[in-house]
Order: sequence, then structure tokens, then C-alpha cells
Amino acid sequence: MILLHKKLWIPGPTEVKEDVLMEQAKPLFGHRSKDFTLLYDSVLTQLREFFKTEQHVLVITASGTIFMDIAARNLITNEGKALCCVNGSFSSRMHKAIIDSGKKADRMEIDWGKAVTVEMIKEKLETSNYEAVTFCYNETSTGVKADLKAIGELLKNYPDTLLVVDAVSSMGGDMLLPDEWGTDLVFASTQKCFALPPGLAIGIVSQKALDRAKTVPDKGMYINLEAILGYYDKKKQTPSTPNISLLTAFDYKLKQMLTEGAENIYRRHKEMADYTHEWALKHGFGLFAEEGFRSVTVTTVDNREKNMDIDALNKALAEKGLVIANGYGPFKGKTFRIGHMGDHTLDGLKELLAAIEEIWEL
Ligand SMILES: Cc1ncc(COP(=O)(O)O)c(C=O)c1O
Repeated sequence: MILLHKKLWIPGPTEVKEDVLMEQAKPLFGHRSKDFTLLYDSVLTQLREFFKTEQHVLVITASGTIFMDIAARNLITNEGKALCCVNGSFSSRMHKAIIDSGKKADRMEIDWGKAVTVEMIKEKLETSNYEAVTFCYNETSTGVKADLKAIGELLKNYPDTLLVVDAVSSMGGDMLLPDEWGTDLVFASTQKCFALPPGLAIGIVSQKALDRAKTVPDKGMYINLEAILGYYDKKKQTPSTPNISLLTAFDYKLKQMLTEGAENIYRRHKEMADYTHEWALKHGFGLFAEEGFRSVTVTTVDNREKNMDIDALNKALAEKGLVIANGYGPFKGKTFRIGHMGDHTLDGLKELLAAIEEIWEL
């Protein structure tokens, strides 16, 4: 059944262009063929170029959450513990992944809408030894970003502590320089800023993280970092059958992204975020994310003053072939979220916001 397509202004999955979708329809080839070796190597080479990194890069057929299990099972020893900075639903999941893997983690709670800061992490690192610090670069449930660069600087003083970053909703949209900023594991999914269908998870892994993984027992099979990266080193392939069709589209999309350039992509996202912030304030809404830490890929509009009906808005938007996201979890109705990521443009955003103005008679 094909429903009317609604342009996705939600914080993922986001719009996928027709030419990118069509790449997936190409005839298949075997994952042990030369063609696949060339394809996978091309995807990883382009990712390294885009993120200016010499670290290990891997793409797994799974959604981004798999890297939470990977972090838990590969990077935390049975004796050690992680510090999980939790300021929303997705950063909370990382803590759960570690606990559910039978490992230990301290949970540092931060109010939703507020950012995790260098000072907060520094205070914890001064009181305890942590094998890893985890947080979201971009907490999609609140639209709050972290100052990853500054936190990376701090972590350079703690060489035994790995910097583990969930960048699911900002990698490929916001700036990300893993080598310069000193991340040890930073991961994402294809359905957000890469503007592809869901189904692939991308990870960038430092040698330090891989060395840690070598000392950790019981890493499982599908999520064993050492095994996955070792297989690539030897054969330039993946240990099991990947989503070849989606990798084909990813290879194609990365060429487009390299042509536009990481800085230009960032600027396009920032411009859309700034425009959305101004629009919200102009119409009497608030911004849920703390000033100075506002996401460039998703804006969370504070609806508590005006109390507009978000479900009714989405019903009316659907008739115009558009959709936005309601607030997340406890902030449903109190906030609404506009995902301006991937291939979206300022012109498209202006059309969306004009449609909301018309429906709400703003
Ligand atoms: C910040 C963040 N982390 C993790 C996830 C989970 O990613 P996936 O659904 O690809 O497993 C999401 C999904 O929205 C997210 O926004």
C-alpha cells in the first residue's frame, strides 16, 4: 500500500532523494566478489576523506544502536566502569546498553534541555577512574548538542579514558573531526544526516579503543570490533553478508557529500537551524535547548507558553504532504521538533514554516 508521501521534517529517518533511492535497485553481486571489495573499500575511503580521519572506520548492517552494544562489550572491562552523561532519551540508552551487558557505569543526570559540559565531566574524572565517558554529540530527544571539541580537549589529559560519542543525529551534518578532537568511538546511522534509508551503522574507532577491545573478553561475535576490523584488514570485506544495495547507495551518496564538502554541509545545516530558531522566537515560542548548545540538525521548539496542538498540526500538514515530529517522551505536546538534516535546504524549510504559519494563522 503506498500512502501519500509526506516530506520528512522529523529528526530521522529523513528525506531520501529519488536518485539515491534508485541506486539501491541496481543488480546485486556477491559479498565475496572483487566488486564488493571495491565497493566497501570505496565507502570506507570516502568516509575517511570526509571526516579527515586516519582512524579505523567500519560500516555494519544494523541501525546505529548496535554501537552502544559494541561500546559496552568491547570497550569496558569487567573490572572497570564508564561515566554516562545522560541529558535525554538516547544518552540514557547508552547507559542501559552498558548495564544490560553486565558492565558497570555511573550515570550523571543532567536536566533535559541542558548540555553536558566540560566542567561536569572534569569534576567526575577528578573523583573516580573511568574507562570511558559517553554522551550524545546531538541529543535528538531535546535538540541539545555537546561541545565535543572542548570535551575532547579535556579527555586528552586522561589517556586511559576513552571518549565514546553517539553522533547518530549529527554525523555528516554538524562538524566532526575525530582525529583532531580525539574521539575513540564515534558512531551514527545512515537514516539521519547521510540522507539514506536506515540499515547501516557507521563507526570511527581509534587505535586506543581497538587496543582496549583486545583486552576485553566475551565480546560476542557480530559485535566483536577486533574481528570486524581484522576481517577488513585482511580481506577488505565484512565478516557476514552486508546490505549490499544500501552500501551501493551509500557509496553514491558519499560522492555527493564530498562534492558539496563537509564545511558547506555544516553551513547549510547551521543556516537552517538559525532560521528555525528566529522563526520560533518571532512567533512567541521558546527554544527548549540551552543557548550556546543548540543543535544544527534538529530544533526543539518549546510549546509550553502557546500550547498549540501538535497532533492537529501534523494532521493538517499531512494534507500538504509534510510532517514534523512531536516532542519526545515526557515533552510530547510541550515541545515539537523540526528535523532539518541531510539534503534539506533553506528554501524547503521556508516552505514548511510558511505552511505551519498558514495552518496556525500565526
Ligand atoms: C542520538 C541518537 N542515538 C541513537 C539513536 C538510535 O539510532 P538507530 O535508530 O539508528 O539505532 C537515535 C535515533 O533516533 C538517536 O537520535
